[in-house]
Amino acid sequence: MLRLWGAFLLLPAAWCAGRETVLFDTDSGLFGDDGAALVMLMRSPEQIVIPGITVVPGNVWPDQGAEYMLHILDLLHRPQIPVFTGAAGPLVHSVAMARDYGRRWGVLEFMGALAHNDPAAVAPAPGWKLNARKPHHEAAVQFLISEIERQPGEVTILAIGPMTNIALALRLKPGIETKIKRIVFMGGNLKVPGNASAMAEFNFWFDPEAARIVLRSRIPQKIMFGLDICNTAPIRKAEFDQIASAHTPIADLYREDLGNRYPGFLHKPNATGYMWDSLAAAYLLDPGFVTRSESRYLDVLTVWNKFYGATVPLDTHIAGGATPVTVMLELDFKRVFELYKDKLTKPD
Ligand code: RIB
Ligand code: CA
Repeated sequence: MLRLWGAFLLLPAAWCAGRETVLFDTDSGLFGDDGAALVMLMRSPEQIVIPGITVVPGNVWPDQGAEYMLHILDLLHRPQIPVFTGAAGPLVHSVAMARDYGRRWGVLEFMGALAHNDPAAVAPAPGWKLNARKPHHEAAVQFLISEIERQPGEVTILAIGPMTNIALALRLKPGIETKIKRIVFMGGNLKVPGNASAMAEFNFWFDPEAARIVLRSRIPQKIMFGLDICNTAPIRKAEFDQIASAHTPIADLYREDLGNRYPGFLHKPNATGYMWDSLAAAYLLDPGFVTRSESRYLDVLTVWNKFYGATVPLDTHIAGGATPVTVMLELDFKRVFELYKDKLTKPD
């Protein structure tokens, strides 16, 4: 009997061994690519442990992003996962700057939260009431630091929004840089145009100073899913239909968001969306779908001109100790889409 009980006690340790701890830092809207990334990882418990979710301003302001994350966790039957908000806004960028950019250098394709003035406005997911649970306010940065310090060398950060929370954690406790196993992020653009401004990808454009801090850091491995590879993984109506037709609560939310909001497949059948953050999440499950990558030292432009947020080569003389970035460039779309579809259409 005692032996049986001992084996039972050992089970959680054995179950956790070999699984990757992932700190999930997101700027989630209602569902989109951030929500898909969360579902993919949460539905892979044999590979991934997510001890908590940190929310950063980006697509929406953090209280709204946290509300959406709490809702997705409910649909996944995982309400016990804590959700934290941290930075209330980007380090330097602001609503006024985003407006000024438009006046001086042309219309921005997407401004996310910087198009809205009221960070306190929170709406529930359509058809639901506001969640009774609330995020742990202003605790995201401390959560990142304590998780990294608790398991030095073991923790992967999945950064799928602007890098504000992560940059603040690195500035508050520089010692954690080398204790992070790796950061896998969606952001930046090398040889293709931006999708916020003509020059810059949205996550880097929203908080260029934060992205610069991370790219100049000593984090041992930096793995980048920028627009160069993301543009090769479009989601069109045919792919959307394969997921939306599953009619589970998660697939219904996917249908609602991608169908009626961005990119709006239900009204614009010729629209194109992108897997973006879901590609970065997929990499944690099956890195073999990437078929070409390159190592580069990278930086982000932070001067106030039309290149604000653009990805550029790093002058390593001014950032001694900075580690290179592995830039993902080509992929096997069929392989990664099958994974995405499999995870998003699973019965709950
Ligand atoms: O450029 C794509 C990024 O911007 C993704 O992280 C997406 O979620 C949006 O925030
Ligand atoms: Ca995102």
